[in-house]
Amino acid sequence: MIGVVVDGVGKSFRRPVLRDVRFVLRPGALTALVGPCGSGKSLLLRLVAGLERADRGRIEIDGEPVTGADARRLARLRSRIGMLFQNHALFDFMTVGENVAFPLRRMGWDEPRLTARVSERLHAVGLAGYEPRAVHGLSGGQKRRVGIARATAAEPALLLFDEPTAGLDPVTGQRILEMVRHEQRARGATALVVSSDVQAVAGVADALLVLHEGRIVYDGPAVLAAHSDEPIVAELFGRSVEARA
Ligand SMILES: Nc1ncnc2c1ncn2[C@@H]1O[C@H](COP(=O)(O)OP(=O)(O)OP(=O)(O)O)[C@@H](O)[C@H]1O
Ligand SMILES: [Mg+2]
Repeated sequence: MIGVVVDGVGKSFRRPVLRDVRFVLRPGALTALVGPCGSGKSLLLRLVAGLERADRGRIEIDGEPVTGADARRLARLRSRIGMLFQNHALFDFMTVGENVAFPLRRMGWDEPRLTARVSERLHAVGLAGYEPRAVHGLSGGQKRRVGIARATAAEPALLLFDEPTAGLDPVTGQRILEMVRHEQRARGATALVVSSDVQAVAGVADALLVLHEGRIVYDGPAVLAAHSDEPIVAELFGRSVEARA
């Protein structure tokens, strides 16, 4: 099980987005990351994955620096990460099976082993036998499931999931979160899951981080967050209560 350390990370574009972000992801735990729109959640995930460089601060995965790593080291670190992008980013021109196989092919898996793993992954997300299907014919929830199957195909030790429930109805969203939780637990993976569905994600997470104005303003057990005195945390929970009513 691997841990992640984010220490004093800052990143600006035209304005500062992340000012001083620090937290530790506990190995084998599912940590939820929430915060207002545009607070930098997706950016933070991309920084952890080494897809973007921080202006300052330090990020370590399993004791290895992501910040300042050369291309070869980054590639090795990334092979241990399963990422689900906010826009799910499936390849429309490939079948469902080819999408799930994609990270495995890149890692040079042989065909029989690859075929078996793709089948096992699709089965795990409730899409057994969907290999030959076209991506564009799938529903939003099915696409998200394919994304999860692909992100977990190579048995990554670190899962970085950006908005796995965006655009889904509450029931489907809840199922997807439970599936993410199940996959994470089954593998003892460390997971960071960004979600705008604050209460739902807090319900499946061990720990919760709240990002606001470039800093982590809540870092603690997910179950206690709803009672936090921090105004933005109360607001985030309150808002999702209103949205559901
Ligand atoms: N590559 C980039 N170039 C310029 N600005 C960027 C870039 N990446 C992120 N930003 C800016 O950083 C801010 C945070 O963006 P980010 O997408 O991380 O927010 P978010 O918290 O994920 O929002 P949402 O909840 O809407 O997904 C935004 O103002 C965005 O415009
Ligand atoms: Mg985002």
